[in-house]
Amino acid sequence: MPLLHQNVPSAGLAFVERGDADGTLFSGNGVSVHQRMDGGKDAPTPGTGDAGQGGKARQARESKPAGARVLLSAPDVGERERAALLAAFDSNWISTVGPAIGRFEEEMAARLGRPCVALSSGTAALHLALRLAGVEAGDTVICQSFTFVATANPILYERAIPYFVDSEPRTWNLDADLLEEAIRRLARRGKRPKAVVAVHLYGVPAEIERIAVVCAEHEIPLIEDAAEALGAEVDGLPVGTHGMAAAFSFNGNKIITTAGGGMLAVRTAAEAERVRKWSTQSREAVAHYEHTELGFNYRMSNLLAALGSAQLAGLEEKVARRRAIAARYREELQGLGVLDFQEAPTGRRATHWLSCALVQAGRRAGEAVGECRDALMAHLDAQGVESRPLWKPMHLQPLFRDAPRLGGAVSESLFAQGLCLPSSSALREAEQGAVIAAIQDFFGPRNRGSLAQLGRIGASVER
Ligand SMILES: Cc1ncc(COP(=O)(O)O)c(C=O)c1O
Repeated sequence: MPLLHQNVPSAGLAFVERGDADGTLFSGNGVSVHQRMDGGKDAPTPGTGDAGQGGKARQARESKPAGARVLLSAPDVGERERAALLAAFDSNWISTVGPAIGRFEEEMAARLGRPCVALSSGTAALHLALRLAGVEAGDTVICQSFTFVATANPILYERAIPYFVDSEPRTWNLDADLLEEAIRRLARRGKRPKAVVAVHLYGVPAEIERIAVVCAEHEIPLIEDAAEALGAEVDGLPVGTHGMAAAFSFNGNKIITTAGGGMLAVRTAAEAERVRKWSTQSREAVAHYEHTELGFNYRMSNLLAALGSAQLAGLEEKVARRRAIAARYREELQGLGVLDFQEAPTGRRATHWLSCALVQAGRRAGEAVGECRDALMAHLDAQGVESRPLWKPMHLQPLFRDAPRLGGAVSESLFAQGLCLPSSSALREAEQGAVIAAIQDFFGPRNRGSLAQLGRIGASVER
């Protein structure tokens, strides 16, 4: 198993400088978060203040506005959110201080069974998790390669060195065996990773118990990036409770949104207090402005926390809806024999933040799978349907070209073959029907020659 790019820089500084110069330290993940095309008025959704109007909601979902674009993941808000936001506004707590912040933290803590700190973004949460783990300049942090860049960027913020490890083909998340191998290889060079960052991508839980065991055996702090996975479970336990800290995101395209925001779940009240202090410029508890350690302006605003609480009250319905969307895609498209949908192994409850599939065959002899995936995306686009390729692995990103890594074939295949389909919890039945019909048409006799079936991903992947 080749270990490529073994030239580990002495510190992560070079990465940070390059990121700054290229302007690549962006936030948000590029998934569309446009307004609901109906302005949110005539599409009541269970759990958004329209609860109890299931019939009306269903009826509204059946009607598809002509000419509207079907988006990947749009905010799903209603009267409850509007009222909560306006109440916070009227209270004049228009600040990063206010009662709604503590309330939202407590509600998340009750759900997770861990103390929580409300922050300005999931990226900020990941950054402070690394600081909690004691990551400093020059340290190595093992990170899942197959993810959105926000998982890895905070490693550079601390001028540490990301070491990217490939995914396993079942959950598409961090491969526990490869993780162990990476730790062994680093040990042979006299190094010990300061932290491991594992992701629950697209809301499908990673094999986090195995990953946690590997980390515990080597006494390495485990950070869970659960940005896409609020509401997911592993054997009845919420994701975000297996490591030393877990980050959640509430940006505009997530399962619940605060427009922008994040939450860090930690193990103890003392850790939560440290994180809270760091997020408010590390101000000491005295009247004058006294600072003994570096701080950040990472606190969530009271207005957005109020929005967060209102959204959290509808989480179960939103997750149920995304899961139902994933199930319908699978049910109606699996029969084509061309698409292989991401599925959570038994005992795991995925949120299916986005419904994702791998294109397993070209439409005609000689058509590469990647070509076919791109043609499918172009076909969907022409029909007014938004889709995206799966995340481009970090080890393929120019930003991280010098970073060490282990494996890569699995995430490269996922990137080459995969796409995400519209998955908003406010997606109407008719809109999903239109997406399904467009895909059926694309793979139908009109558009296809003889299928050259490929094996399932992983079967043909050599690591
Ligand atoms: C996997 C993953 N990690 C981290 C983040 C960062 O969250 P935020 O956009 O709230 O900073 C996101 C979402 O954008 C994400 O999808």
